[in-house]
Amino acid sequence: MALIRFTLNGSPVEADVADPDMPLLFLLRETFGLTGAKVGCLEGVCGACTVHLDGAALRSCSLPAAAVDGSAVVTIEGLSEAGDHPVQRAWIEGRVPQCGYCQSGQIMQAAAFLSETPSPSAGDIASAMAGNLCRCGTTPRILKAVARAAGIAAREAGS
Ligand code: FES
Ligand code: FES
Repeated sequence: MALIRFTLNGSPVEADVADPDMPLLFLLRETFGLTGAKVGCLEGVCGACTVHLDGAALRSCSLPAAAVDGSAVVTIEGLSEAGDHPVQRAWIEGRVPQCGYCQSGQIMQAAAFLSETPSPSAGDIASAMAGNLCRCGTTPRILKAVARAAGIAAREAGS
């Protein structure tokens, strides 16, 4: 049993976890009801479970819940208040999703990447997104949408 205190989507939270080795993904989904991060491979390979930990993209299936004590976690539900983060707008404009299962992970990966690399090259984008898999073949639209999101964010920063 362990008591974990952390910030979740901007609010302080705490949770008693029976098994501190339980993956963060399950804590988010089962204790907090945040189901945007998806259960995929559970082996750190597909990226469907990606969230932000202290601003960096992280595979929540591969981190023990107890490790987030004292940290800030953001899920797709908390990425923006109105679903209008530049990445989310670019995704909508580009009609990126197909089945949608991988998409919250893709968006969280892209948002963390662009916060570190606001003016990426096509190669930067391809390499940043290469670890997030999509079985539906949306990768070409994803890559275009990340570039579009960088443009949206740059225009907003200049306005
Ligand atoms: S479910 Fe976490 S990387 Fe696949
Ligand atoms: S949209 Fe279906 S897995 Fe990516």
